[in-house]
Amino acid sequence: MSKLVVCGGNQLEGEIEVQGAKNAVLPILAATILNGGKNIIYNCPDLKDVTTTVEVLKKLGCHVRRHEKTLTVDSSQLNSDTIEESLMRQMRSSIIFLGAIIARCKRAVVSMPGGCEIGNRPIDLHLKALRELGVEIRENHGYIYCDAHEMTAANIHLDFPSVGATENVMLTACLVPGTTVITNAAREPEIEDLQSFLNRMGAKISGAGGDVIRIEGVEKLYGVEHTIIPDRIVAGTYLIAAAMTGGSIVLRNVCPRHMQSSINALRDMGCELYTERNRIAISPAKSLKALSMIRTMPYPGFPTDIQSPFMALCTKASGSSMFVETIFENRFQHVEELVRMGADIRIDGRVAVIRGVPGLSGAKVVAKELRGGAALVIAALAAEGVTEIDGVGFIDRGYEHIEKYLSSCGGNIKRKD
Ligand code: EPZ
Repeated sequence: MSKLVVCGGNQLEGEIEVQGAKNAVLPILAATILNGGKNIIYNCPDLKDVTTTVEVLKKLGCHVRRHEKTLTVDSSQLNSDTIEESLMRQMRSSIIFLGAIIARCKRAVVSMPGGCEIGNRPIDLHLKALRELGVEIRENHGYIYCDAHEMTAANIHLDFPSVGATENVMLTACLVPGTTVITNAAREPEIEDLQSFLNRMGAKISGAGGDVIRIEGVEKLYGVEHTIIPDRIVAGTYLIAAAMTGGSIVLRNVCPRHMQSSINALRDMGCELYTERNRIAISPAKSLKALSMIRTMPYPGFPTDIQSPFMALCTKASGSSMFVETIFENRFQHVEELVRMGADIRIDGRVAVIRGVPGLSGAKVVAKELRGGAALVIAALAAEGVTEIDGVGFIDRGYEHIEKYLSSCGGNIKRKD
């Protein structure tokens, strides 16, 4: 697996065009199998998770072509309703295909997705909601067998506003006669993007972005064109990297409305941010202030995905910061690696307390999951000396060519295979 070699100390200066959102494109690619038509998706990021999702589409019989940031998916020749274990284990978010396969094929066989680096990632909310839509589900030998010949619209209340479960219900219900209502739905912007993609293909869905989503089933859906929204987590990561190095950058192709909690936190730390419709500019804080208490929450609360990048920034802030990770049970794996670089962080269960130190020092560290890996890159950019980051494959799952974007703004970062 390749590694990143970072020589810290350069201030980031320049402009970055932010990639399309990983967590929008994955469910939208799954949705292409609903219409049996030709779909053109623009602003598609070049990520490992997208490559894996394309592999699943091809295994199901779809024809997929990529030209730069445009993906064309023709799902007319779909010839399978099964996703085998090796693919499900490669990317647990493949569970998002379940709803789409059921809606198109009226049956589905998928392997249990299993856990991942940040937690055991249960799917009980997905299965409970699908059963309420009339899907018969049997679990056996690590596989889930779904029979959906008698589906009915339903009022579905999610015990937790699960992003994936909300998306799976939207994908399944859009072809089920009657009106399905989801209450306590997840409100992430990626769900709004999925709604606009589905409505473009002829679905009748309303309410995404709020906690009540209505889906009126239709008979047929059609191939569409769509542009993926900007990635709010990648955008936030680059703003934090600039703040960490005392630099000033401008982000293009962003949606400040999707990033309010990150923008507020950076301002609370003393950074200056200027936002326009689809641009954000950041100037460094004179001295970084600690974040007294950050609690990760479902959107529009503080995103769990940006917790570790912000923690890296807090290692240098004056004072003590506290993070409470309420969403995933194992999302502090970056802490021991930051401590190797000289950070002062203590963990107790889901609480981490960070006491600011004057500076970090370069070290050999290992990325153990996607966003924690990004946190190590951020720390390395400001550390004294050289940092080697192993496990770059995790970072590549969600960040498109991270070293190219950061080098273009003056970061001294290289990929070594
Ligand atoms: C999505 O994961 C994102 N992934 C995650 O981003 C993100 O962290 C997460 O939402 C929360 O915002 C994609 O969109 C591909 P959830 P998802 O269902 O759908 C529990 C990244 O770094 N839960 O909202 O899996 C679960 O254990 C990734 O880009 C159940 O208990 O998240 C967790 O505690 C990481 N039962 C909480 O809900 C279920 O059936 C949030 O999970 C489903 C979830």
